[in-house]
Amino acid sequence: MSSVSNLIDGRAIAEQLHQETTARITTLIARGVQPGLAFVRVGEDPASQVYVGMKEKVSKRLGIHSTTHVLSEHATQAELLALVARLNADPAIHGILVQAPIPSHIDSSLVYRSVSPEKDVDGFHPMNVGKVLLGDDSAFVSCTPAGVHELLIRSGVKLPGAEVVILGRGNIVGKPMASILMQKSPHANATVTVCHSSSRHVAETCRRADVIIAAMGVAHFVKADMVHSGSVVMDVGVNRIADATAPSGTRLVGDVDFATVQPKARLITPNPGGVGPMTIAMLMRNTVRAAEDLTH
Ligand code: GUN
Repeated sequence: MSSVSNLIDGRAIAEQLHQETTARITTLIARGVQPGLAFVRVGEDPASQVYVGMKEKVSKRLGIHSTTHVLSEHATQAELLALVARLNADPAIHGILVQAPIPSHIDSSLVYRSVSPEKDVDGFHPMNVGKVLLGDDSAFVSCTPAGVHELLIRSGVKLPGAEVVILGRGNIVGKPMASILMQKSPHANATVTVCHSSSRHVAETCRRADVIIAAMGVAHFVKADMVHSGSVVMDVGVNRIADATAPSGTRLVGDVDFATVQPKARLITPNPGGVGPMTIAMLMRNTVRAAEDLTH
């Protein structure tokens, strides 16, 4: 297939979700609750600044009250934990997101454990990670894998019995993605293979997949010879590579070699404009659910 019709339009699907979320916000506001979301950033990582800025903007557009707390890159673990504790106790805040990466002198797993599970709209708390693995619907699911799942469902991809290959085993995407898709439920029930840096025969494994989810952070890793005409290819990667023709000297690319894979695949996410907007849409949905649950 060579037409653009095989593109999964993440921006359009995210807008559908925003409409659904906005309707729920209207209902909440009618009973006197404005959903509140707190962002926490530590240090001046440029990518984190951009990501949090995008999330703030969408929050505002949808009617979610947001606050952003920026700590210096030299902030202590105790300072960060004290801030999280304050946000946990703040009744105007229903969701808390501590943007990764956190500087290495701070124990990030301790920070994620300190966020109240009921306000953990990022789905990073071990309670929520565990619930996802157990198939407990009350979990907050990590936003990027939840967004990939929603894209697959809303694009009509049949998951029961499908061979899904996930490239990458990170805590934010690979592991929760596998948890979601292996569940015995009508929108999952897939046969899941997780490939990582020690995997052998990765290209061969990808070739037998119905769905490839690329989330290992290697620019242009998925090549045309790893897909077939029935492949659905989801590109989660965000990699900065050198590009002498770009004004900044660099540009962002995914984990998929889009130019060669797109003409061959059945369905594929563009990057940007695929998974990214869905991550934000799922964060907004999680925040509204947190507000509903905390105030019912
Ligand atoms: N950094 C990259 N992705 C994410 C995410 O989903 N949540 C947070 N908190 N940080 C991230």
